[in-house]
Amino acid sequence: MALPFPPAVRLGDSLEVDPPLWLAPMEGVTDPSFRGMVLDENPGAVGAACTEFVRVTDHPAPARFLVEALGPARSDAAVGLQLMGNHPEAVAASAVRAAEAGAAFLDLNFGCPAPRVFQHCAGSALLADPPLLESMVRATVEACPVPVTAKIRSGIEDDAGIEDIARRVEQAGASALAIHARLKTDRYTDPSRWQRISRAVAAVHIPVIGNGSAHKPQDIQAMFQETGCAGVMVARGALQNPWVFSDWSALIRGESPPERGAPEAVDWLARYRTRMEAGGATPRQALGRLKQSAKALAEAGFLDAEKVSPALRLKETDSFLDCLDSCFPVTADSPR
Ligand SMILES: Cc1cc2nc3c(=O)[nH]c(=O)nc-3n(C[C@H](O)[C@H](O)[C@H](O)COP(=O)(O)O)c2cc1C
Repeated sequence: MALPFPPAVRLGDSLEVDPPLWLAPMEGVTDPSFRGMVLDENPGAVGAACTEFVRVTDHPAPARFLVEALGPARSDAAVGLQLMGNHPEAVAASAVRAAEAGAAFLDLNFGCPAPRVFQHCAGSALLADPPLLESMVRATVEACPVPVTAKIRSGIEDDAGIEDIARRVEQAGASALAIHARLKTDRYTDPSRWQRISRAVAAVHIPVIGNGSAHKPQDIQAMFQETGCAGVMVARGALQNPWVFSDWSALIRGESPPERGAPEAVDWLARYRTRMEAGGATPRQALGRLKQSAKALAEAGFLDAEKVSPALRLKETDSFLDCLDSCFPVTADSPR
């Protein structure tokens, strides 16, 4: 049975995210190659994507870092750039450069739990200083010609501050709030508490983008229905199933997604390699990313983890892909 498509999300006056599905920022994953692959594999099914965070110290980030993070321009989805820092002026100046470099929107990171970030009072550490968080958003909104969004965790050790932070983000002029329904202390454990997303939705008028444990198409749909969020942001679900957005789209249309298995997964890895090499990745970087992707594809059941395991020990990309080709031969029974 077909379900109603959720309406597009407007960011500011000029930008429409349609459908309202975001590919989340993931450091070490969502570089321009991975993002480009996911956008190509899910035509029309990803409304927005975001770069991994670019760290801003007390000086604006160099323009070349921003250009590199954004990668080739895309017209099929809004591609934003994420900044993480704690100096409002430096972040705002970096945001202006990001807009000049082609970012469709600017996202501010208030969620990163990594100790090296937290100890430097950035990422989720800003949740402990709501006035500073608010002034970062305001300074960026005032300086930046493109819409500004904020991505927060639900708190550090408890979620009592959700409403206050959400309202501050709104009052500072952000176009949307993305809320990751975990605390900093939850790291990445499942399940996320989606009630926290509902609370943010009730607290503000700007669109709220839900995030956390929406790994599968059915989870995406459940997050829309259970929380009332305007958009859903998928992170690890897209690493495990790079077709998750199209599969959600099929679910909404009442269609079955195409059957995919090892041949499609191995084919994805081969094309991902080509893309990374074309983008200038070194063989070592490309092999690392391919192994990361293969492990995630195995977690999702596209590949048999035991068969993948020997390939993960190989040190050359050619032998890694050859090994997978021979472990997962295309047979007459393969789903194609
Ligand atoms: C490997 C990895 C890197 C991440 N890097 C970023 C990042 O650069 N910026 C950010 O805001 N969140 C980052 N996150 C958090 C995700 O965007 C997302 O909020 C989180 O994984 C929860 O979503 P999920 O349950 O769908 O995975 C990262 C998560 C992972 C697993």
